[in-house]
Amino acid sequence: MRTPALLLLLLAPVLFAQPRVEYSASKKLFLLRTDSSSYAMGVNPRGEVQNLYWGGPLWRSDDIPAATGGRELSSFDPAQSVINEEFEAWGGTRYLEPAVKITRADGGRDLVLHYASHKIDGDNLSIILKDVVDDIFVTLNYRVFGPEGIIRKTALLENKSKQPIHVESLQSGTWYLPHGEDYRLSYVHGRWAAESQLTREAIHTGTKVLESRKGHTSHNFNPWFAIDDGSASEESGRVWFGALGWSGNWRIAVEQTPYSQVRVTGGLNTFDFAAPLKPGESLESPPFYGGYSENGFGGMSRRMHRFELTDILPHGLQSRLRPVLYNSWEATTFAVDEPGQRSLAEKAAKLGVELFVMDDGWFGKRNNDRAGLGDWTVNPQKFPNGLEPLAKYVNSLGMDFGLWVEPEMVNPDSDLYRAHPDWAMHSTDRPRSELRNQLVLNLARNDVKEYIFEVLDKLATQYPIRYFKWDMNRPFAEPGWENVAEPKELWLKYVKNVYEIIDRLRAKHPNLEIESCSGGGGRIDLGILQRVEEVWTSDNTEAFDRLGIQYGFSQIYAPKVMSAWVTDVPNMNSRSTPLRYRFLVAMQGALGIGANLNKWTAADATMATGMIAAYKQIRGTVQEGNLYRLLSPQAGELTANEYVSQDGKQAVLFAFLHSQQYRQSPPAIRLAGLDPKATYRVQVVGQPNKQDVSGAFLMQSGVTVRLAGDYDSTALLLERL
Ligand code: GLA
Repeated sequence: MRTPALLLLLLAPVLFAQPRVEYSASKKLFLLRTDSSSYAMGVNPRGEVQNLYWGGPLWRSDDIPAATGGRELSSFDPAQSVINEEFEAWGGTRYLEPAVKITRADGGRDLVLHYASHKIDGDNLSIILKDVVDDIFVTLNYRVFGPEGIIRKTALLENKSKQPIHVESLQSGTWYLPHGEDYRLSYVHGRWAAESQLTREAIHTGTKVLESRKGHTSHNFNPWFAIDDGSASEESGRVWFGALGWSGNWRIAVEQTPYSQVRVTGGLNTFDFAAPLKPGESLESPPFYGGYSENGFGGMSRRMHRFELTDILPHGLQSRLRPVLYNSWEATTFAVDEPGQRSLAEKAAKLGVELFVMDDGWFGKRNNDRAGLGDWTVNPQKFPNGLEPLAKYVNSLGMDFGLWVEPEMVNPDSDLYRAHPDWAMHSTDRPRSELRNQLVLNLARNDVKEYIFEVLDKLATQYPIRYFKWDMNRPFAEPGWENVAEPKELWLKYVKNVYEIIDRLRAKHPNLEIESCSGGGGRIDLGILQRVEEVWTSDNTEAFDRLGIQYGFSQIYAPKVMSAWVTDVPNMNSRSTPLRYRFLVAMQGALGIGANLNKWTAADATMATGMIAAYKQIRGTVQEGNLYRLLSPQAGELTANEYVSQDGKQAVLFAFLHSQQYRQSPPAIRLAGLDPKATYRVQVVGQPNKQDVSGAFLMQSGVTVRLAGDYDSTALLLERL
């Protein structure tokens, strides 16, 4: 029987699609393929797995030379130093940043991993490495996210030998850049209220370490890197990038060896790290995600954003667009009570707010930051009838109810601490260092974990809570742990237990949403983002500063997860910006209001109502569309970002003028990501006039925005006709 031609044509992409994971037995070579990148490894004649390629897409493995094993350059420069070993164990003649290092009970530390076998299962590849002597195994797991252009690496270390081992380092893997370019590293660093500051610098011989030793992801560095060919720009040039999914101590070492290799090794921080493994036990590394863009840093970010939306966030593409939120913190700080919250809720509802979140101050003796953390019972003076009347009232106004919690912490002035002083992290008989008058609970302990789970579960069961703002307002100190064999395990077990609490809570309360906050952006990474809907970008809500923070944030994370509030002025830096400017800055993420609505004028409320209504029209495009950073706040007086919806039907341009000088008018802004052949109906957000303009003109000649003075701003809405 003949197959109809049409059917063949329809089936072609399926029939002729290349597998995502391919193995060439003759060359002992693995080729992983995403739609936009390829990654190759081979087993050399000595049995070592060598990295062979990472970059733009290749379609046949035939072209890639097999792994040769290299050669010894001198007795000081062994072959292992130059072969790009995929997962370097510390053993034999190896001196580069190792991916795994152990000590056996008998004191032996040498570990030499050779290829043992592999398994391909659809888009997954597992390569099993075994020590040349012992039954110690490392399985390198790769998952190919084809359309998204991302490869995930994890490593599983298994002790099947007869003696216990101590793991001193387990990394998720190493990424190798092609030889011979003048590479440049991009990373973000910062501190409280100044997160996500983007820096680019040349890579030189030596090692640059980005890390956290603070117990949480930290404001200081984010577990992400991008390396470009030295000349990439926002929309052109080659960029290799990667990010870790881990919310505890992490480490990324960017190393240019004297042999001109550029390699990036990342995973669990080795600082003060230890994990004992008895025979039969295993340890898995956190995931390390990597990708490649031929369209510069913009292409990199769009890939990351899409990947987060489809594959990282708890409900992926099924998760709802972020609702417009109101948060009471900056309005009331600790002075919350039922009448005050009711009145704010009424005002918020009238503006169009959809989620009302009561922040700190509702529990225990929490009248300031010196007491109450740990006592998660409703304060009877502030809420004589519990939280139910308020939560129901908020619901009756058409909004969801959300609640602030900081479950990992305790004030020494709390009933919990008085009952369980040993639950706080401490080092025996030594002072306990307080920050913000609080101590960290040792959540690595299973009894503490169970207690915290019960507290949160009870709250979520008792009240109609749709959303927890989960805060964590200080890093670890004195991370001791009495009566356990290895106190250093605290770092690892703490994070695993936090993850477990969230996972169990979400499983039991499927509608519950969570925001990850850690004094602003102290816990933002791909590990926590698998468990929360959004993250608090920064405690700095001052709109001009926010442009810079959001610029750095957007390199890595999608606008949908970026909480952004409109707050009162003057704010940080004593700066005052117009309400419209503050709205337009915050409308580039998940919009929230954090202002004291009791102080707003009727004109403020009218403006806010209009802006919130406009936001609801464009939020799908902003939150889930493609971002083009047209003009960076690092570059000059004018900042511009454009968002194009997935289906291309809508686009929004945001433009901000910092300060005009010499009556200079801003330059035309050339748009991106439009269809040159299509016509767009263009309108200033909030104004009635519309004009039809071709995509070609908008992208080639650009649009002129009428901005003048200081902190002026505008947004253009484009609907494709
Ligand atoms: C942290 C958060 C703020 C607020 C306070 C409450 O600083 O980042 O948004 O919730 O705690 O104490």
